[in-house]
Amino acid sequence: PDVLRRELVDVEGIPLFWGTAKEWSQVQSFETRPDDLLISTYPKSGTTWVSEILDLIYNNGDTEKCKRDVIYNRVTFMELIIPGFADGVKELESKPSPRLVKTHLPVQLLPSSFWKNNCKIVYVARNAKDVAVSYYYFYQMAKLHPDPGTWEEFLDKFITGKVAFGSWHDHVKGWWEKRKDHRILYLFYEDLKEDPRREIQKLIKFLERDISEEIMDKILYHSSFEVMKKNPSANYTTVPQSDMDHSVSPFMRKGISGDWKNQFTVAQYERFEEDYEKKMKNTTLKFRSEV
Ligand code: PPS
Repeated sequence: PDVLRRELVDVEGIPLFWGTAKEWSQVQSFETRPDDLLISTYPKSGTTWVSEILDLIYNNGDTEKCKRDVIYNRVTFMELIIPGFADGVKELESKPSPRLVKTHLPVQLLPSSFWKNNCKIVYVARNAKDVAVSYYYFYQMAKLHPDPGTWEEFLDKFITGKVAFGSWHDHVKGWWEKRKDHRILYLFYEDLKEDPRREIQKLIKFLERDISEEIMDKILYHSSFEVMKKNPSANYTTVPQSDMDHSVSPFMRKGISGDWKNQFTVAQYERFEEDYEKKMKNTTLKFRSEV
């Protein structure tokens, strides 16, 4: 049981769950192609949702084509290199263009080839408290992570950035700054929940594509939480149970905004907000106050 669980390793100041020098240099020297599209997120911020939408756009809303393979093969997690388990870089090397690439790396650790080739990047941010909750349940079910401990203990690690991929605050701020000098479409999970049609339109414009209303309706339907939750190509139930145990918590857990209200105590909320104020006061990046 839980043989996969491992402690996080410091990679250039960021805790990751792998990180020998060899694997890290493989990531750093990843070679992009100009038509690669990168989907970048802090974990649990809507990666899978936007990945499915992008693959649907790339396939003109053909839902059968989008069932050709599971989401983690259609959109490859670049830096996931664990000997005997996964090798994102190698998988990408053998893929035909145009490729969809997933990353959770903070902006300063992105392989430089993305900047050199001016690849388009879609960044998705989600409010911190919902991310913390989603991440807590994910740590429990996805056995690659260290043991999360109690919610109180996990929340403490989240606030202090001692979770995989580091500080949420630094991540969202770092990518927000970068959009000033690179082609980055910066989206919010909460906006997607509010009006997915409007946000998908933004993606289509960013990709310089055009789709009919009919295809838009198909994309909206097939990327909805309820439909994705039942779709084995999108819901991660195809991962071996030893790696991801959906009986502990499903990958497609709730898919809502504001679930933090069911998890945080008043004291935890107050501590979180006080720390948040300090870390987020030096940025123009704003999240909706109601979530
Ligand atoms: S990962 O492991 O970092 O790639 O996870 P990620 O896909 O970024 O985040 C998982 C959370 O996104 C929710 N989700 C969705 N919400 C709304 N609509 C759709 N279609 C959708 N697909 C996934 C998923 O349920 C996780 O959030 P929580 O709050 O845990 O439910």
